[in-house]
Amino acid sequence: MVSYKELGLVNSKEIFKKAMEGKYAIPAYNFNNMEQMQAIVAACVETKSPVILQVSSGARKYANQTLLRYMAQGAVEYAKELGYEIPIVLHLDHGDTFELCKSCIDMGFSSVMIDGSHHSYEDNVALTKKVVEYAHAHGVTVEGELGVLAGVEDDVVAEHHTYTQPEEVVDFVTRTGVDSLAISIGTSHGANKFKPEQCTRDENGILIPPPLRFDILEEIEKQIPGFPIVLHGASSVPQEYVKMINEYGGALKDSIGIPESQLRKAAQSAVCKINIDSDGRLAMTAKVREMFATQPAEFDPRKYLGPARDELKKMYIHKNKEVLGSAGKA
Ligand code: G3H
Ligand code: 13P
Ligand code: ZN
Repeated sequence: MVSYKELGLVNSKEIFKKAMEGKYAIPAYNFNNMEQMQAIVAACVETKSPVILQVSSGARKYANQTLLRYMAQGAVEYAKELGYEIPIVLHLDHGDTFELCKSCIDMGFSSVMIDGSHHSYEDNVALTKKVVEYAHAHGVTVEGELGVLAGVEDDVVAEHHTYTQPEEVVDFVTRTGVDSLAISIGTSHGANKFKPEQCTRDENGILIPPPLRFDILEEIEKQIPGFPIVLHGASSVPQEYVKMINEYGGALKDSIGIPESQLRKAAQSAVCKINIDSDGRLAMTAKVREMFATQPAEFDPRKYLGPARDELKKMYIHKNKEVLGSAGKA
């Protein structure tokens, strides 16, 4: 059993409070390996941004829980070595059982998400409350979810959005004691968030997806003023990466994300945490494919993972500065 405090990590309480007051959002970037972790930490140190290092249950299986714990501890030390201490949270993304959340808390996570959104409302409340009780006894913060995002969440596939119902949030937040709430207002996971037929085209022929349901977000804010809201499925799916991937042998089709302008608007509201995973995958894949195609004689992993890491770092710097507004807030 190890406490996150011993690893030099922080929970999300203080950074969410500041993000709410300062009208910006904390980046929650998913990682599965060393290069992704290095890119996230280096970008957040360079932009002086607080950061949430986010681990899915799939990532935990992939990377090994013990290694992850030391990687998070390493992230804290790495940031110091780079010359600037930033608040770092280690967060479980989409925890689906009490046992998984408990195990992460016992292994040094400072924040967990219990995603009971696929259960009935009452079962979601009961499960979330149980996790909150254990987590709070250990100083760990908890994110709950109300409403279902369309798309794939681990093994669960939802055909359509079930938007968060604003009339449920007060009851959910008070009965569970959660510290933040993930909501469904039109985002979804993965690189195919909208079908082209759902979009319109601007004067340059660029596809413009339907706007997020800011009306629902505003209604939620009215119900629980000042309460930290989380936006999942917030990748923008940069078209330059989609193009690079397809140019160098990939087969991505209809890859459409959330426009940055929509995310900037969300970051200025009660949305305190913005989750981004797919964009990291796209940036890395684009660069690795380019290296393979343009330097086919190379077979040293550092020669393609290094440039992929540089590209990732560049993308995270851009997001912190231009999209989330978290740059300079650490
Ligand atoms: O919300 C899902 C995240 O993008 C994690 O994806 O379960 O494939 O690691 P994953
Ligand atoms: P994206 O697939 O849009 O990156 O969303 C990631 C996410 O919500 C992780 O929980
Ligand atoms: Zn998510």
